[in-house]
This record gives sequence, structure tokens and C-alpha cells, in this order.
Amino acid sequence: MEDLTEILIQNLSRLDPWILKNKIDAYRLYDRELTTFPVAIDIYLKKAHIQIYDNDSSDNEDLLVTQIGIALEKVLSIPIKDQYIKSRRRQKEGTQYEKVASSRERFIIKENDAKFYVNLKDYLDTGIFLDHRKTRTLVKNDLAKNKERMLNLFSYTSSFSVVAAKAGVRYTTSVDMSNTYCDWSRDNFELNALEKFNHIAIRENVQFFLENMKNNWRFDLIVIDPPTFSRSKKMPVPFDIQKDHPFLINHCLDHLNQDGIILFSNNFQKFKLNADALDTNNIQDITKETIPEDFKNDKIHKCYIIKH
Ligand SMILES: C[S@@+](CC[C@H](N)C(=O)[O-])C[C@H]1O[C@@H](n2cnc3c(N)ncnc32)[C@H](O)[C@@H]1O
Repeated sequence: MEDLTEILIQNLSRLDPWILKNKIDAYRLYDRELTTFPVAIDIYLKKAHIQIYDNDSSDNEDLLVTQIGIALEKVLSIPIKDQYIKSRRRQKEGTQYEKVASSRERFIIKENDAKFYVNLKDYLDTGIFLDHRKTRTLVKNDLAKNKERMLNLFSYTSSFSVVAAKAGVRYTTSVDMSNTYCDWSRDNFELNALEKFNHIAIRENVQFFLENMKNNWRFDLIVIDPPTFSRSKKMPVPFDIQKDHPFLINHCLDHLNQDGIILFSNNFQKFKLNADALDTNNIQDITKETIPEDFKNDKIHKCYIIKH
């Protein structure tokens, strides 16, 4: 317990100058450093989002939650009512996007010059993936420059599209299988004063979308950020990142302008890029430079730039 408080204090003093300098609204304060506390603690303004991993007994879980609660009150003065706890340990393959409450409590966080709605209560995820903070900055400062059309696949709440649109991309198409996340994307577009006819969210299975996309559709920037595995009534067969990534990337290459860029990312820790099955050799692994300052786990995602 003392150890946890100590680590939170140390992490906070290490991150504080970076938080202040970069006006960071949301960051990872603690990243499973102690085996006795197998949790990730993310701070969103003055609230905490706590994800519990690999904890065997539920008695233990209550104790763990109490101890984390006390430590967070002590170190950051975050009251228990503003600490949102999620258990990831009973998560089955493909169920990671399920609803856990219906409060519709949401608030706005800022990142660079973009705004995003977050909801710490209702879903396992919050509306924004903090491990892609640097990747979004790369899109803003580099990948989106002088690009006209973007396709964002597995777009979730479309944070990549918002960032690209704010950096000058004129038309963005975001595709996600969830109605909830498509609505959330539209809210994020509106929040950022983006023209709704130029920035659209389509509810569709990505595999179906790619197979049925008009032959002559072309994009300058394509973001592909799929889950590791997904299964749903809306899909004839489950999606598996290791098996299915060449299909995704090759289809996207067919719709990528000659000087276009694909940003491909995923969170599968054992992921191996099947370069032999891809229709290009122009692949750059940018994982290292996209792991943010506040993450201890450098396997949190893999990330590649792919071109013709
Ligand atoms: C890892 S999240 C994407 C994160 C997003 N790129 C971001 O940075 O905010 C995966 C998303 O894929 C969606 N999804 C899963 N399987 C899908 C499929 N077959 N077709 C379309 N969307 C799918 C989920 O609803 C979820 O929103």
C-alpha cells in the first residue's frame, strides 16, 4: 500500500513538468508497475479511470480497489466518487467493447487544439485511447499535411479523423461497426466545428466495406487500427488481426493515391507483420517513436507507415 502511494508520488513528479508544458488533460499515472497492484490508472482532468487486470480473487479485488482509492485521494485529492473502476479480467475474446452502465455522463478533454468527449462510466474504454496520443500528434504535424481525403477504418470515436480534419484534410470517412461509436464520432466532429457533410461516419463491417468500396475511390491517408480479435452477429466470420491484416492492407493499397500514406496499428502483443503477403515493400516500423512518455509498457501497440 505504502509502495503504491510512493510510486504514484514518484510518477506524478516525473510527469508533472511534461503535463504542465504540454497542457495534458489525460495521462497514464500508473502502468502495472507492482505485481501486487495489477492495474492501470489513467487521470482525466480531476477524475480517475482504473482498469484492473489479472486479479484472481474477487475478495482481493475489493481490497485492491479500497487501497487504490485511498492512495488516489492522498496523492491527487481525487474523491472516491470520481474514481471509475473497470475489471478487464473476465473479458472474453471479442467482448471488449461492451457496455457496463448507461449514465451518459460525458465531459470534454483537450489534446493539442482538438476536443474529445470522454465517458469514464458506461463502457470499458473511455472514448479516447491514450497510447495513441503521440500517433495523433504525428498525424497532425506530419501525415495529414497537404492531404485531401482520409479513410479511417475501425475508427471508434474517430479521434484520428478529428485530428486530420483540423490539420486541413478536407474529407474524412470513418468506418466502425458500432452505431454508438459512429454517433460519438459525429458528436466529436460537431464539437470541433467540422462540416458534417465533409466528415462522415459509416456504420459497417470493415471487411464488407472494403470488398464493396467503389473501384475508383482513392484516398491520400488511410488509418487502419483494428482490434486484435472481434466477433459479432453482424459479421459472417470473426476478425483476427494476425490472419487478416494482409487483406486489410492490400485492399487499402488498391485505394491509396500514388503518394499516399497508410498508418497501420494494432494492440496485439505477439503481432508479427506478414511482410511477404503485402503488395509493397515500403514499410516503416514507427512503434518506438509512437509510445508516449507516460506508458511503461512499450508493447502497448505496434505501428507502421506503409506506402506504395
Ligand atoms: C482499437 S479500436 C480503434 C481505435 C481508434 N482507431 C482510435 O484510435 O480511437 C477498434 C474499433 O473497431 C471496431 N470494430 C471491431 N470490429 C470491427 C469490424 N469488423 N468492422 C468495423 N469496426 C469494427 C470497434 O467497434 C472499435 O470501435
